[in-house]
This record gives sequence, structure tokens and C-alpha cells, in this order.
Amino acid sequence: MVGTIQYQDDNTQARVEYDTQEFPFYDMFLDHLQKKHPNVKRLEDIHKHIEMSEFVDVRHHFFKWMVSKEYSQIAETYVAKHLAPHVCPNQEYMLQAIPMLRMVPPNQLKSGYFLMFHTGTITGYPEGVDTIWTPITRAYDSNTMHMVNRADSDRISKLVNAEQWSVKRWQKECEDLCFPVTIEKGQAWLFKQYHWHGNVNNETDITRWSWDMRTLKQGSIIDNNRRPGSYFRFPNDHHETPALDPKRKWSVYVDQTAEEWCGTIPHYIVREWVWTKLQKMGVTPTSWNNEHFTTTWNPNLEHHICHSDIKGLALPSIYSLRSEITRKFEMFKMALERDVHLYFPAEEILMDSQSKLDKIQRILEFTNSGN
Ligand SMILES: [Fe+2]
Repeated sequence: MVGTIQYQDDNTQARVEYDTQEFPFYDMFLDHLQKKHPNVKRLEDIHKHIEMSEFVDVRHHFFKWMVSKEYSQIAETYVAKHLAPHVCPNQEYMLQAIPMLRMVPPNQLKSGYFLMFHTGTITGYPEGVDTIWTPITRAYDSNTMHMVNRADSDRISKLVNAEQWSVKRWQKECEDLCFPVTIEKGQAWLFKQYHWHGNVNNETDITRWSWDMRTLKQGSIIDNNRRPGSYFRFPNDHHETPALDPKRKWSVYVDQTAEEWCGTIPHYIVREWVWTKLQKMGVTPTSWNNEHFTTTWNPNLEHHICHSDIKGLALPSIYSLRSEITRKFEMFKMALERDVHLYFPAEEILMDSQSKLDKIQRILEFTNSGN
């Protein structure tokens, strides 16, 4: 029944039911696939029509659609109905900005396209993240996701670190303990980041399709680069690449003292990345600037905002400044008052208005709510 949730495994995993009329994923995905491969009549048969090497192109074709406003809104409504009420009721949350599509063809091991066992934790998801995994085709036997229960997952995680297991070892251990998640049309699977999960070799004769999506609840501790603003977005704020004004005089600015974001990566490497991003956006910067190594208040950034002819500054990320948060906003306001555009490629935010400044503030406050 739609809306039903069946908890399992100490309430850390659950099967949910959704309305296939409201969310006709199979038809939507087939429709989109046929724009590229009109001869494929069933998603399950894609491997009969294209080579494994072409799967990358197909994923790219879907990726563009799945970050569009159209799909983002569908994904958002779906998550609001079938994931958020169970994992973060009455709590603010963000969503994964780019949903993930997976296709598992028969005998995928032979082609080297194989998803080994892993946890969300070892792949960098904060603990306040929850996943909804939605097969688009029927998922059963060896074509489906395989899952290890909570108790065994915890035990394996401890041993992996204590005994420094190889990937081969944990794959074997997980394969011995896991169960296949059987999913019918109109069902999805919820799970937490500490569960070991992955694939075994698909010995069925169909390609399994699925997509996955995650929420990040307020108050989560963010300790790596899967951050709010880039990896996660707020509802109603879909991923969009801004248009930069190429007529402005642009400069690249890197604060190499912002270790929380840059770590110990040399500033000239970070700068190259920002520089390349600008060029891809049709802008050729006229200069670059670094912060002074021994400072903590970004004096060089202030100088370039207030006392130079630069009208656009590209900074790697909204997180890539050493300054305290109040000082950060002081400088962002200075930029706004002087009509200096700030572009943050990691979050794809062009700060050229008060509403963009408000957006940055909301993201940073969300991040700080758990740290
Ligand atoms: Fe995963």
C-alpha cells in the first residue's frame, strides 16, 4: 500500500511503497533513453543493444536530465514524501544535488564495471545522511543491491580498521553475510550510512536500473568535502550553472591558509582549478592573488574588493576563507556594496545580489548547526 513502511534490521533499514502513477520512473527513464537509443524497447534489455563501453555515454545523457529543474522537482517531491518523513520529521534537511543512476548489466564482473562492497561512511557521507535506493526495473537475486545487516556491518567496520583489511577481504566477508534486497515495482529501500552494501555478479538475464538519493539532516557533523552547497542543496534550489559577465575584469583569489577547505594542497594547484573553471565559463581572468600566509582575517581579499579595479573575483568555495564567519560576511557585504561579483565554483554560486548572499548565509548556518 502506498505510504507503507516496513522497518527491518533493528529499524535501520526499511522498505517503502510509492505510487507509480505519481512517480512513473520506468516510463520516464525509458522515454529519456529512447531519445538517445530509440531502438531499445525495454530498459532491462539495454545490454543487448549497446556495448558496455557506451554505458558511460548513457549515464552522461541521464546526468544532464537528472540535474535539470524538471527532474530535480520530481526527485524533491519523492524524497519529501518517502524519505524525509521517516528520517528527519519536522527537521530542516538538504538533498543530494545530483542523483546517482546505476545500471547493472548481466555478468558485469567480466566487463570490469563492478560496484564493490562499501559503506556510506567510508565513501565520505556524514552520519546524518540517509539514502533512498529506488530500483527502476525489478531488482532480485544477483542483479540487486546486496546488504549486510547492522550488527555484522558494525563488526566488519571495526575489523576493517583494526586489522587493515584489503578490499578483497571485505568483499569476501560481505558476500558471505549479505542478503539480496528484493524490490518490486513501486517499492524502494531506505538505509543508513553504516550498512555495508554492494553488488555480486549479475547472473540474471536483465540489466538492473536504479537511482539513489540522499538527505542530510540539520545538525549533522560535516567533516569532509561532501558539503552543503555543493554536494547537497536545499529543496527548491536545483543545481544551476550561473552566467558570468565576461566584460568585467576578473581575478582568481586563493586563501591558502584556509586549511579546513584546501588542506595542504598547494595554492597554485587550487588556483589552476579555479582558473580553468573560469575559462570554461567564457571568462579569461586578468590576474591572480593569494592571501598572506601569516594572516587570519583575509586582508588581501578586502584590499582587492575595496581598492582595485577588479569587478569579479573567483574564490574556490564559500568555505575557502580562513576568517571567522562574521568577518566573512563583512567582506561579502563590501563586495555587494561595491558591485564586485564573487564566484564560487565549488558551489556554482555567483554572489551578485542580496538574495545570493542570503543563500550563502543559510548554507553556512546549516553547516555550522552541527559543527
Ligand atoms: Fe553505496
